[in-house]
Amino acid sequence: MKISVLKEIHVDEKRVATTPDVTERLIKLGFEVVVETGAGVGSNFSDEAYRQAGAEIAPSAESAWQSADLVVKVRPPEENIALGKHEVDLMPEGCRLISFLFPAQNEKLLEQLAHRKITALSMDSIPRISRAQKLDALSSMANISGYRAVVEASALFGRFFAGQITAAGKVAPAKVMVIGVGVAGLSAIATAKSLGAIVRAFDTRPEVKEQILSMDAEFLELEFEEDGTGEGGYGKVMSKEFIDAEMALFAEQAKDVDVIITTALIPGKPAPKLITSAMVESMRDGSVVVDLAAEQGGNCELTEPGKVVTRKGVSIVGYTDLPSRLAAQSSQLYATNIYNLLEEMSPQKDGSIVVDMEDVVVRGATVVNSGKITWPPPAVAVSAAKKPEPAVVEAPSSEPIKPPSKVASVAKSSLLPMLIGGSALFGLGLVAPPSFMAHFTVFVLSCFIGYMVIWNVAPSLHTPLMSLTNAISSIIVLGALTQISSDNPTIMVLSVISLLITSINIVGGFSVSQRMLQMFKG
Ligand code: NAI
Repeated sequence: MKISVLKEIHVDEKRVATTPDVTERLIKLGFEVVVETGAGVGSNFSDEAYRQAGAEIAPSAESAWQSADLVVKVRPPEENIALGKHEVDLMPEGCRLISFLFPAQNEKLLEQLAHRKITALSMDSIPRISRAQKLDALSSMANISGYRAVVEASALFGRFFAGQITAAGKVAPAKVMVIGVGVAGLSAIATAKSLGAIVRAFDTRPEVKEQILSMDAEFLELEFEEDGTGEGGYGKVMSKEFIDAEMALFAEQAKDVDVIITTALIPGKPAPKLITSAMVESMRDGSVVVDLAAEQGGNCELTEPGKVVTRKGVSIVGYTDLPSRLAAQSSQLYATNIYNLLEEMSPQKDGSIVVDMEDVVVRGATVVNSGKITWPPPAVAVSAAKKPEPAVVEAPSSEPIKPPSKVASVAKSSLLPMLIGGSALFGLGLVAPPSFMAHFTVFVLSCFIGYMVIWNVAPSLHTPLMSLTNAISSIIVLGALTQISSDNPTIMVLSVISLLITSINIVGGFSVSQRMLQMFKG
């Protein structure tokens, strides 16, 4: 199968759908790769680099389109003014297309694709499930945008981000506030922290608090009982009262921070307006606001999409092409996402693909299948989604009834197994020797306690927990110490050996925990 890689014609778009590195991997997977001349120039990949990777270079856009069995692109197909034709009409009938297509906003494009019997997979429609993480191009781009937002802010901000004590005086660290802690927000926090800034962050989803703290940033708390967790790990539209309360918090913060990075968005909805002109005007001269939601209307009242505007000494950045401003990196991640999708779709690894509509990932991404519009796909159970809360019954009195406490419900759910286990132990005790029963009871209790400990710890902390319990569980050391002064040389030697091995276990356990915790701190 021939894959054509096109030069992007969208104004100022520098990314390319495949890099020389990924070209090589696609060829190993059995595909032929054709690259339009100059396709990689914006990302600093020359024709020569593609040629060396094994690609054929097509001399023109027309020849690249027409020789394709499968076209890979970044931007949705659009009118090619130079050729006087729409890109969809340049594609051979029945061809396949993988690109960002944003089907919800591009219904007419879907009809055009269907008309030409195209099978189109949209990279922005990959479901957000664990298995599909390596194909998640939206997350790849959001990650880059968060990084680039901080880089743009630091370029406009006239001071260091890190605090310094120099011979010429003391420099205070910059204070950065990040609003919306999804993929882009987390990346912005990590980048601002690595530059040495003091970082504060806010999100409507309380579950992100742990992630914010693990990056050594501060979580801005709001005294308001409303959970912002929506479907699929995204946020949900908040009540007016909540928005008012969070805006009061931002108004306070605006007077204190130097940089505000906003990424607040609920998919398919206009961006909530959270930063008012008055808040911007209350910021110190030289401060910067970077509004990542500019394309969806902006989180800041003053944002102008695609531009940097200044109000009373404060710059407001509304760029909508942040991934393209880091084109080589974006192209590499995007191309890898596409490669991973193709690898999934090519079970034989023989350079052909199967559009398996039974596969939940392929089904989610396929928006047109052999000329039939298949968007929207059926809903997918998403792993990031939160478990439903226990229902709260409305109380007749003014005091709301609290949901049953976790301890009480655990106790209730463990009652039956405990009764069965107790009876089994009793039965065994009637027949087994007393020495066996003593050891066996300790063993059963240890299993139970171990299970309860692991069960109540967040899965993300299982590895540090295991290494820590590994270290603590080296209780053997006590046994060895009591026996080491034995008169019997065999017992003494065995004690020394067990002390040695146990010490490795203890030191190893603690050092792995330490390294894991450092990783969480970024
Ligand atoms: P995401 O959906 O993972 O994160 C958005 C976060 O905003 C969620 O955590 C949500 O809970 C939070 N949020 C929603 N309403 C809020 C409110 N009222 N107050 C506080 N937090 C709220 O999205 P992701 O992938 O991190 O993208 C973030 C933004 O960046 C989006 O607007 C996206 O379109 C934009 N983006 C911009 C690019 C650019 O070049 N400017 C490129 C790529 C993404």
